[in-house]
Formats: sequence, C-alpha cells, structure tokens
Amino acid sequence: MAVLTGPAGGRRERGSAFRRAVREVRADVDAAIERDPAVDSRLEMVLASPGLHAIWTHRVSHSMWQRGGRWKLPARLLSQASRAITGVEIHPGAQIGKRFFIDHGMGVVIGETSEIGDDVMLYNGVNLGGRTLAKVKRHPTLGDGVTVGAGARILGPVTVGAGSAVGANAVVVKDVPADSTAVGVPAVVRPNAPALDPYADPALYI
Ligand SMILES: CC(C)(COP(=O)(O)OP(=O)(O)OC[C@H]1O[C@@H](n2cnc3c(N)ncnc32)[C@H](O)[C@@H]1OP(=O)(O)O)[C@@H](O)C(=O)NCCC(=O)NCCS
Repeated sequence: MAVLTGPAGGRRERGSAFRRAVREVRADVDAAIERDPAVDSRLEMVLASPGLHAIWTHRVSHSMWQRGGRWKLPARLLSQASRAITGVEIHPGAQIGKRFFIDHGMGVVIGETSEIGDDVMLYNGVNLGGRTLAKVKRHPTLGDGVTVGAGARILGPVTVGAGSAVGANAVVVKDVPADSTAVGVPAVVRPNAPALDPYADPALYI
C-alpha cells in the first residue's frame, strides 16, 4: 500500500487523530451516562461533569508530558489549572485508560506513577497516593473495571485487580486480588460471590 508523505500525509494523520479523539470523547460520555443516574442528558453531562472535564484536560497534559523536555512545565501548569476548576488533581505523568469516570470530582488526587486500566470509576475524595519520597514507581495500579468509593485512599505501588471494588473511606496498603471487595481501615479483602450462569444446569445450585 502506498504511504502518503508530505502535506497530504500530514493532513491525513491529523484527520485520523481527530477522529480517534472524537470517538474517545463519545465513549467517555456514554460511560459517564451509564454510571451517573443523576444526569438526564448527554448535553448536561458534557457541560456539567467536572470528572469528564478533568480527564479530557489530563489527556492533553499527559501527551505534553510524554514529549518531555520543555513540554513538562506547561503540562504541570495545565494540570494545575484543571485542578483549580474541577477540584481533581491528576499528575500529567499518570497513565489512564479508556472510559475513565470520576463522579462528583472534588478532592480526587492521582499521583504521577499511577496506572489505571479501562472502565475504571472513582468517586470524590479518592487518593491514589505514594508512601515514599523516592523517585520510583510509588503509586497504585488499578486493573480494568475497578471502582473506588468516596474518600478511599490507596497508598503505595499496590495493585487492585480487575473487577474489584474498594469501599468508601477504605485505606488500602496491600494488593487486592481481582474480583474482590476491600473495605475498612486498613482494608480487609473478601472475594466477590461468583456470578450465576443463567445457562448452567439449575441442578448445580441444588
Ligand atoms: C464496598 C462496596 C462496593 C460494597 O458493596 P456491596 O458488594 O454491595 O456490599 P454490601 O453492601 O453487601 O456490604 C458487604 C459488607 O461490607 C460492609 N461495607 C460495605 N461498604 C463498606 C464500607 N465502605 N466500609 C466498611 N464496610 C462496608 C457492609 O456493612 C457489609 O458488612 P456485613 O457483611 O458485615 O453485613 C460499597 O458498600 C461501597 O462502599 N461503594 C462505594 C459507594 C460510594 O462511594 N458512593 C459515593 C456516592 S457519592
């Protein structure tokens, strides 16, 4: 296949990046609508969700951060401007997956070396923080589909496995396996009950 170079190639690349960005924004709004029963329309969500405004600004500041060098300071300034407006502080270095949603926004702090999978939801007041001042991986990793309740703190380079939930106000300082729920201070983990298979032989459950 012939590869377009020069001005036409540049335009095509910019066009496809723009289409990708539009697709991502649509997916964010759909995910937010699904998870916030208090909102009636897509327009209301787009205009009045600090969580969406924070992630959209983060995508810009993160791409600036990844360029490195002289881009890092403007990336930090953009992230601080977003914090002032939304109440959500996301370090531009944090890696965040698709369809991420923060309900209510205010008081969320996401540290520089945090890694967040796809379809993750946080409520207000969540802290993904560090426990060391060393410049190493010091913030949590959240797997796909994790939910973190209001006011929870997840501290250090711990992993919360895919599909797990962290309860409101919990303090997590150890790994949480996949498909579990962690509540309390310090958090105690219990595995989630396995979902019933609607096609399984009912005799299995007797
Ligand atoms: C942790 C959570 C996900 C568990 O939900 P669930 O799987 O439906 O669990 P249940 O409500 O059946 O509770 C299971 C047990 O954990 C306890 N529990 C639930 N949430 C808890 C919490 N945040 N802290 C301490 N204990 C909690 C319950 O009392 C219950 O205890 P028991 O087994 O001794 O009776 C949920 O309670 C939660 O905290 N969600 C966050 C919601 C939130 O932040 N909302 C903010 C909106 S602004």
